[in-house]
Amino acid sequence: VKKIAVLTSGGDAPGMNAALRAVVRTANYYNIECYGVREGYNGLIHDDFLKMGPRSVKNIINQGGTILKSARSVEFRTPEGRQKAYENCVKHGVDALVCIGGDGTFTGAKIFYEEFGIRVIGVPGTIDNDIFGTDNTIGYDTALNTAMESIDKIRDTATSHNRVFFVEVMGRDAGFIALNSGLATGALDILIPEKKDSRDELFANFRKAEKTGKASSIVVVAEGEKQGSIYDLANLTKEEFPDYDIRVTILGHIQRGGSPSCADRVLASRLGYGAVVGLMEGKTNVMAGMRSNDMVYTPIEDAIKKHNEINKDLLLISEILAI
Ligand code: F6P
Repeated sequence: VKKIAVLTSGGDAPGMNAALRAVVRTANYYNIECYGVREGYNGLIHDDFLKMGPRSVKNIINQGGTILKSARSVEFRTPEGRQKAYENCVKHGVDALVCIGGDGTFTGAKIFYEEFGIRVIGVPGTIDNDIFGTDNTIGYDTALNTAMESIDKIRDTATSHNRVFFVEVMGRDAGFIALNSGLATGALDILIPEKKDSRDELFANFRKAEKTGKASSIVVVAEGEKQGSIYDLANLTKEEFPDYDIRVTILGHIQRGGSPSCADRVLASRLGYGAVVGLMEGKTNVMAGMRSNDMVYTPIEDAIKKHNEINKDLLLISEILAI
C-alpha cells in the first residue's frame, strides 16, 4: 500500500481524533502517503482531500469531535455518488481507505470495495458500542462516563425532592450505555431493547422500593427501548402512582461530546495503528477491533450484521443491587 486516505463518518464519537492521529502517524512512520478526507464520504465525492503529515494531527489526541468533520452522506448511497468518489480516489492515486465510524460507515465501505476493488479497512468509532468484532467501540467509554456523571447530578436533585426521574440515554438500538450507566448510578430499573421489561415489572419494582422506604428513584431508559416514548412512560407511571413527583431528562448529544477518556484514547491509538498495519499486511474489507486485549480483524460484513450480546450478569446484578 502506497497511498491511503482516512475519513470519519456517521455520528461523531470522542476518540475519533485520536484514531485519526494514529492512522496518520503510523502511515507516515512507514512511509505511506496519507490523505485526510473531509466530511466523511461527501469529501470523497467532492474531492475534499488534504495531505496529512505527522504535524497535521498535533494537539488533537485530547479533543472530542473530529477535525475532519463527519457526515452521513446521502450522495454516497447512490451509484453516481460512489462513481465520483472512485474517480477522485484514482485521481489522487489512493489505493486504500481507512473508514472510522459505525455500521452505516462500514456498509458504505463494503459496497465501495465490492464495486471498485478499492481496499478498505474499518475502525469502530461510535458511542453506541453496537459493533461486532470489538469489545468496545471508540467513544463508548467516554459517553458512558458522561452519562454516569450526568445521572449522578440528577440523583442529587432527585434525592433532595423525593422525585422519580426517567433518564433517557443514547445507544440507538442497543442498550449498552443504558445498562452500564444504570448499574454505575444505582438505578432502580434499567430499560433496554435487549430485554423488554413489561410496564408491570417496572411498577412492581416501584412498589418494592416503596416498601423498603425508598423515597426517590432513577430509571434509566435506552432510547431504543421502543415501547412508546419516555414521556408516555412517565405519564403511565403517574397514572399508576398519582403521588409520585416525576421528571423526565433526555441526556441527548451531550453524550457525544467532550475530551475522550484514557481508555478511548488508548483504544483509538491501537486501532488506528492496527488499521494501517492491517492494510500493509494485505487485509481488506475487514474491521480492526480489540477483543480480550488482542487486535483482531473481523470481516466488515460480520461487524455490521452480527451483534455483541448484552452481559446477562450485569442485568442480574443491577436487579439484585436495586432492592
Ligand atoms: O450513533 C450515535 C448516535 O448518537 C445514536 O446514539 C443516536 O441514536 C444517533 O447517533 C443520533 O443521531 P443524530 O446525531 O443524527 O441526531
